[in-house]
Amino acid sequence: MRPIGTRSRRLFLATLGVLIGIAGLGWAWPRLFPDPLAGGRTAYARHDWATASARALRRLRENPGDREALRLLARSEGRLGRDDAAQATYGRLGLDAMQAEDFVVVAGGLVRRRRPDQARRALEMGLEREPDYAEALHELARIDAATGRPSEASVLAERLAARPGWEARGALMLGLLRHELGDPRGAAEALGRALRLRPGLEGLSSSPRPVRRILARSLLQAGDRARARVLLGELLAGGPDPEASWLLSRAMLIERDLAGASAALAASQGYGDRDPTAPEPAPYVGSVRCADCHATIYRAQQSSRHSRTFRRASEPRALPEVLGPIADPRDRRVVHMVRRTAEGLQWEARDRDRAFTALVDYVFGSRDIGATPVGRDARGQARELRLSHYGRGSVWDVTTGQADHPTAPDEFLGKPLSRDALRQCLGCHVTNARDTSERDGPTAVDRGIGCERCHGPGGHHLAAIAASFPDPAIARPRLATADRVVALCAGCHSPRGEPPRPGDPAAARFAGTALPRSRCFTASAGTLSCITCHDPHRDAETSAAAYEARCLDCHARPAGPSGPTRVSTPPRATLAAEVRRVACPVDPLRGCVGCHMPTISGIVPHATFTDHHIRVLREGADTRADRRARSTP
Ligand code: HEC
Ligand code: HEC
Ligand code: HEC
Ligand code: HEC
Ligand code: HEC
Ligand code: HEC
Ligand code: HEC
Repeated sequence: MRPIGTRSRRLFLATLGVLIGIAGLGWAWPRLFPDPLAGGRTAYARHDWATASARALRRLRENPGDREALRLLARSEGRLGRDDAAQATYGRLGLDAMQAEDFVVVAGGLVRRRRPDQARRALEMGLEREPDYAEALHELARIDAATGRPSEASVLAERLAARPGWEARGALMLGLLRHELGDPRGAAEALGRALRLRPGLEGLSSSPRPVRRILARSLLQAGDRARARVLLGELLAGGPDPEASWLLSRAMLIERDLAGASAALAASQGYGDRDPTAPEPAPYVGSVRCADCHATIYRAQQSSRHSRTFRRASEPRALPEVLGPIADPRDRRVVHMVRRTAEGLQWEARDRDRAFTALVDYVFGSRDIGATPVGRDARGQARELRLSHYGRGSVWDVTTGQADHPTAPDEFLGKPLSRDALRQCLGCHVTNARDTSERDGPTAVDRGIGCERCHGPGGHHLAAIAASFPDPAIARPRLATADRVVALCAGCHSPRGEPPRPGDPAAARFAGTALPRSRCFTASAGTLSCITCHDPHRDAETSAAAYEARCLDCHARPAGPSGPTRVSTPPRATLAAEVRRVACPVDPLRGCVGCHMPTISGIVPHATFTDHHIRVLREGADTRADRRARSTP
């Protein structure tokens, strides 16, 4: 060992002296100047809010100007749920003096009053003051997750998982969010981390068993059957678990252990039959893989609008028509145009001397009805561009839902889209939003909505068919109840949030919420669903007679020689004997759709919708959205 030199020794002794001095001061300071709030603060730290608030009040009686006492009082009141009192106390403290913890407390009160948007704003202000304040990250992530913003929430959870003391909680949250966002590899990584850090997940409001099942699902989805198998073995060692057995049957199927897979399936007590529309926790394989064996369905589906409802801007002729330069339909001073540049398709909105540009990434909607470009502006912000092409009128017009006269000039380029809003567009227009946006995975090359959007990932199915396993291991809506089928279609054919009220003409846009309001649906004991009238692999039939044959499956034909329907197809719906069959007193044979499911225009420009709320309308067929005042509610 090298002896310590004199110089270093002197330095060492000096440092030691300073340290001892600081320690001594640390010991002496509170004794010289005792913190009058110390007791209150320790009480607050151990969540004894009542004592904390009592101490703060006592201090304020001694010294009404003590701002720290005011702060402690406001915090404790807020933590106790006395929101009015806390608000008043914070009013005295003032916004400028508030710290991250104070915003967390205020946000808690706003959540209790069901004002999540204001709570979000408060937490964002807290994070502006202290960017990594763990509890603010946690609360904001929770609000985002609960209000349909899982992408934003996952960014926060990732930051939370890096905060000392919050690693396990952050990783758990991150894993569950990634699972929801269809990122099985990321989910498995984060959930595995959370379970390593805290195997029993103590104090995390989740018990380990369900979390381990989700981890097993993520591993299967990611194609890591070996780890899934070990984990499921451990789970089953703890006692019978139908879901774990069912998952194990999948892991064994992939390993071609058919005897094991059958035994595990038997032990699952019918777990997989509960909902035939539930997707398999399998890897995606891409629609083209289905073509070999389901050629007819494949060809039909690939030419339907479902599969043409999305394209990338890099595809040739991505936009239905070259644009520009054309004047904005609402403000003639603004001119739009699109060019092909080295970087790609560039959109420009020019307001006299100011120009805003965006690179187009995607075009949503089949061209037949409407096509809306979505891109990124110069700052990388995603935007739904200002103009869409409407196929029926073959015109460019303002995109549905955008302001006629935007207040911010850059909104002439289009409406900004948050990460989650863009993910939602993709979620309803492609097979797998994540693969599409990451350009990764077998569904990234699917055209629009492919097979696995409705049938779930196909990896297990391919293995099952190859091994002649009796369970085809794929979602089978054919076997599902009418409610489940409607829910599958309504996942996209309903609005996000509150649907328009019955009688509001805009309600006709959303078949998924309109149809279930009909007596035909509510009174037919689970016989009617979307697939009574539609083939899910083809566009809507345009002959009214085809639908009227369906009406007559359930609505009695008049007695006598067989009613002359123009289309004779085998019945799709068979009403149960106990359901009343009523015939139309006005026309028992034909014209049903025109009178009871009229076409509505004026909801989306240059497009019409069919009112799926089947009912008696006072004025028969009516084709305008301003029917509101006259329609039966
Ligand atoms: C190697 C041939 C093959 C490939 C590839 C294949 N399937 Fe199948 N599929 C079958 C066979 C055979 C059946 C019938 C199995 C049975 O009924 O037990 C079937 C059954 C199905 C069913 C259940 C039908 C029902 O309602 O009973 C669905 C849904 C399905 N396949 C969808 C798909 C999708 C989606 C893909 C692509 C991801 C695909 N298949 C790829 C051969 C294949
Ligand atoms: C909840 C699912 C859902 C979401 C989210 C969604 N769409 Fe759609 N979109 C549909 C359905 C269903 C249709 C067909 C029926 C209709 O037009 O309402 C459609 C139709 C369209 C059309 C065809 C013409 C039109 O205007 O009706 C365009 C263009 C379009 N969507 C673009 C977008 C864009 C851009 C976003 C994101 C800002 C988006 N969609 C978000 C489900 C969705
Ligand atoms: C929009 C949702 C949706 C998409 C996309 C979709 N299907 Fe289907 N599929 C269904 C529904 C719903 C049924 C049940 C239909 C019925 O019972 O009449 C079904 C039934 C089936 C069946 C069994 C019934 C039969 O006629 O043999 C097969 C096989 C099938 N689909 C394969 C595919 C393939 C392959 C693709 C992609 C090319 C695909 N599906 C895309 C919803 C969809
Ligand atoms: C992933 C979201 C999604 C799901 C799930 C979905 N649809 Fe669609 N559907 C769309 C979109 C988007 C369009 C608009 C296509 C376009 O751009 O024209 C559409 C269009 C349609 C059309 C009109 C096609 C035409 O002729 O213009 C029918 C009919 C339809 N869907 C029926 C169904 C049925 C039935 C189901 C359930 C079995 C279903 N959809 C499930 C998104 C979906
Ligand atoms: C799956 C069976 C089924 C199909 C298909 C069906 N309906 Fe119905 N519909 C019913 C039942 C059941 C009732 C309730 C009869 C009753 O008890 O009053 C009903 C009620 C009605 C009513 C009265 C609604 C009200 O609010 O009083 C109208 C109108 C109607 N159907 C029209 C149609 C038309 C038009 C079609 C075809 C586009 C159709 N239905 C298809 C089963 C069906
Ligand atoms: C009783 C028959 C019937 C049922 C059930 C039904 N539809 Fe339709 N649907 C129609 C008719 C009729 C049209 C108009 C077709 C045409 O003339 O283009 C239509 C058209 C559509 C269109 C094209 C856009 C529009 O509004 O014209 C979509 C999308 C659609 N249906 C979705 C659905 C979905 C989703 C369900 C289940 C929630 C469903 N339909 C159930 C009869 C039905
Ligand atoms: C010219 C318009 C028109 C046509 C066509 C039409 N209906 Fe009607 N339907 C009506 C009107 C109006 C009523 C309400 C009659 C009343 O209450 O006096 C009605 C009533 C009904 C009812 C309710 C009967 C009850 O007793 O509750 C059903 C069910 C029905 N129609 C089904 C159909 C079917 C199915 C078709 C096609 C075979 C059809 N309608 C064709 C206008 C029409």
